[in-house]
Amino acid sequence: MTRIKDRFDRPIQDLRISVMDTCNYRCAYCMPEDKFDDDYQFLRPDQRLSFSQITRLATQFAAMGVSKLRLTGGEPLLRKKLHTLVTELKNIDGIQDIAITTNGVLLEKQLPNLIDAGLNRVTISLDALDDTLFQRLNGHKGSIKPVLKAIDAAINSSLQVKINCVVQKNCNESQILPIIEHFRDSGAIVRFIEFMDVGNINDWHSDAVVTGQDILNIIDTKHPFSAVTPNYHGEVAKRYQLDDASLEFGLITSVSQPFCGDCGRARLSADGQLYTCLFANQGHNLKPLLNDPHMNDHELTSQLTNIWQQRSDRYSEQRHKLTDRKKSKIEMYVIGG
Ligand code: GTP
Ligand code: 5AD
Ligand code: SF4
Ligand code: SF4
Repeated sequence: MTRIKDRFDRPIQDLRISVMDTCNYRCAYCMPEDKFDDDYQFLRPDQRLSFSQITRLATQFAAMGVSKLRLTGGEPLLRKKLHTLVTELKNIDGIQDIAITTNGVLLEKQLPNLIDAGLNRVTISLDALDDTLFQRLNGHKGSIKPVLKAIDAAINSSLQVKINCVVQKNCNESQILPIIEHFRDSGAIVRFIEFMDVGNINDWHSDAVVTGQDILNIIDTKHPFSAVTPNYHGEVAKRYQLDDASLEFGLITSVSQPFCGDCGRARLSADGQLYTCLFANQGHNLKPLLNDPHMNDHELTSQLTNIWQQRSDRYSEQRHKLTDRKKSKIEMYVIGG
């Protein structure tokens, strides 16, 4: 199989598929409560790609070189019978890894079906361990209890588990050491993420970023650690391990140390737009292609190949030079990270 490359010679590797634009949380950096109230118009079910359309697209992407799929949202577990999609995706030739990024609220109940369907990995967002702060950060949409229960259930299953913590200045730096302590000897991998300027609604300001180096300095006050070599070319997180081997943690430093040079990630929104960067201003609407009765799979692959070959995105590397950063960017809840 020839791997399709973009203008900077980056082969397509991963496809991140958003299956749902809504969420049961209202994190201020993604879906602030005042904007995403009861009147907010999310996608109607008939506007979302069906599971068979998603599977058709994933099959074409696998033919272009994609081997990893990640299901995202909004909150992906709000999509009914998501495990049946995992079953379909698992059967695609060339797909070696299927992961999901979730807030964890609905995970425990769905875990057995997802595992039976062939899910390999789960990443659960956890910005705080302190329940009061946790609830403040999720827009007062529920306690941490079901999330911690789901994390335990996932850790005790066959899945590989990662925990994502977005660190914001004067907000949750206090949670870094408790999170490290909590997950020692659990087998889960913790990743601390620099707060990024995704979308336009999160009032991002560079002063709110706690850099990877700041995070390392905080961890260093309590725990000796060393860097670990990457698992694969283009891995998003830089890996570290506590010196007593009780925990692997990672840093995702899109702001202070961008990683566009190796980026082979394509993103599909729930309504069928294909984005070639997390910070894209515009997507490629795939719905007309999927709805065209004359569009055979060969022609569809050639259209998708053409989009990837035209790709020249490297937003994080250009961030500091950009003067028009306020231009409308795709929002986090649409693209799922
Ligand atoms: P694996 O390495 O496969 O485990 O997954 P991942 O780290 O790519 O996925 P996850 O959904 O856990 O993403 C972690 C964080 O990295 C999120 O905040 C994402 O928004 C961010 N991230 C993932 N891919 C990219 C990317 O291509 N560019 C940037 N700037 N951030 C990314
Ligand atoms: N910066 C960094 N990470 C973010 N996430 C959501 N919004 C941002 C942001 N502005 C995280 C979520 C989730 C992952 C997919 O992206 O918390 O863990
Ligand atoms: Fe939901 Fe995740 Fe957005 Fe929070 S960051 S509102 S959990 S989709
Ligand atoms: Fe890839 Fe865009 Fe992120 Fe750079 S900013 S790593 S090109 S998604």
